Amino acid sequence: MRSAEWFAAKGKDGFIHRAWMKNQGIPDYEFNNKPVIGICNTWSELTPCNGHFRDLAESVKRGVFEAGGFPVEFPVMSLGETLIKPTAMLYRNLASMDVEESIRANPIDGVVLLCGCDKTTPSLVMGACSVNIPTIVVSGGPMLTGRHNGKSIGTSDIWRYDAELKQGKIQEEELRTIEGAMCRSAGHCAVMGTASSMACMVESLGLSLPGNAAIPAADARRKMLAQLSGLRIVEMVKEDLKLSDILTRNAFENAIKVNAAIGGSTNFVIHLLAIAGRIGVDLNLADFDELSANIPLIANLQPSGKYFMEDLFYAGGVPAVLKELDPILHHDCITANGKTIKENYEHISTEKNDVITTMDEPFNAATGLAILHGNLCENGAVIKPSAASEHLMKHKGKAVVFETIEDYKARIDLEDLDVDENSILVLKNVGPKGYPGMPEVGNMGLPKKLLKRGVLDMVRISDGRMSGTGFGTVVLHVSPEAAAGGNFSVIQTGDIITLDVAKRSLNVDISDEILTARKAALKQAENSKQRGYVGLYIRHVQQAHLGADMDFLRGGSGSVVTRDSH
Ligand code: FES
Repeated sequence: MRSAEWFAAKGKDGFIHRAWMKNQGIPDYEFNNKPVIGICNTWSELTPCNGHFRDLAESVKRGVFEAGGFPVEFPVMSLGETLIKPTAMLYRNLASMDVEESIRANPIDGVVLLCGCDKTTPSLVMGACSVNIPTIVVSGGPMLTGRHNGKSIGTSDIWRYDAELKQGKIQEEELRTIEGAMCRSAGHCAVMGTASSMACMVESLGLSLPGNAAIPAADARRKMLAQLSGLRIVEMVKEDLKLSDILTRNAFENAIKVNAAIGGSTNFVIHLLAIAGRIGVDLNLADFDELSANIPLIANLQPSGKYFMEDLFYAGGVPAVLKELDPILHHDCITANGKTIKENYEHISTEKNDVITTMDEPFNAATGLAILHGNLCENGAVIKPSAASEHLMKHKGKAVVFETIEDYKARIDLEDLDVDENSILVLKNVGPKGYPGMPEVGNMGLPKKLLKRGVLDMVRISDGRMSGTGFGTVVLHVSPEAAAGGNFSVIQTGDIITLDVAKRSLNVDISDEILTARKAALKQAENSKQRGYVGLYIRHVQQAHLGADMDFLRGGSGSVVTRDSH
């Protein structure tokens, strides 16, 4: 075992490795000659979605001890969506470096990743992939469904309440009451937002035990799953079942199909591409469109549908979704429990219900994801048809361009802004390099004067991202981003843009000559002189169509470290 290089060593080195473990009151038979299991914990009071993780880690430890292993809990950078400025995405790659180096540098034979709030899943999986030792994911689970005025509510309702506030339908005082009614238990966002999509992603990739994604954080079965995962990781070490054994191209294809069927977050695209880059699986943007095409939406969950993660759990969770998708899945992908994905779902019984519909009678015929191409996005862009408006899926309109988020905030509600419901709102410089960090501002709020007239959706285009809880006819992840100097950087107010989702196209009605001339005249803002991590990020982050990982982080360094510090 890897840990034996530390704890079984003779002389001075072994003495130092063992003696300082003993200062915690641990006799050396506890950790010597046993699988040492790292519990990578993203607990933080600044990441409220992961606020219950110390409890969860205790359950994992019980399982590890029970199986004859030795658990060691260690902290890594925790990224909470709600408090971090300017955006948690700026730090996803930094957190992944923390995870990779923490695992590599320490006497760890296997690792349990405790993941919850959006970025805490991809950052941990990316980092672990670059080391590639036996690894299992335990998700924190969603919050219980919120309730207000007799209605079930969740994070997606924030955007509705915000529009109602602008329309004068509700007041600030009511919003305060709703805050507590919505976030009424431990756990992450209860809709099919990014955190839920990430939990479904790890389960459909085979990185967790079956059922991991949907058990609510507050349900006792969440702790049971954590304990069973602790038990299982010890076996995985003995079997040497590594991430690269699980994360095959076929496993990625299964995950893409599941995400389309559940109406998962558009952020899924960017994170899965980054994970594939770390583990060395060849995956590109076109794969998402090809593999998602003709897969209807079968999970009736907000923001594309009506229900919540708690309902998905009662309806059978991801195993029930997988069972329904059986004809289109790869069956023999090995998963964390040592069984194939099909062996995990084939025996479960499902009943007809309103939450997980059938492929033959789907809840929505529109697929969850489409990839667009055209002269406005030379390297692609992403849209979520299942959360968009049917009447805008083919639309031609005049661009109303905002050069920055500050420009948008300053002008969007001006009475004299030349905009109507047929206009296309364009927001630039919210991409990976430009913001920097690619924030979730793509589903920018509509102009107040149009909201008051009852307009509820417009085509919106940006090089940023959208919260997985958001909805609308929103084109995201335009690549190259404005700050990288593609055609998107020179779109101007008044340009005519055509979106045709059926044809997967996004074009601006401007000739190549004019676009080239505009680009030659453009003076890009100079932000590459920033210091510290942000400077490093701007200089090395790749574009959205490559997963927005840093160029030097693709691939991995493995688990072998030959030199010692003493
Ligand atoms: Fe953490 Fe939504 S804010 S999952």
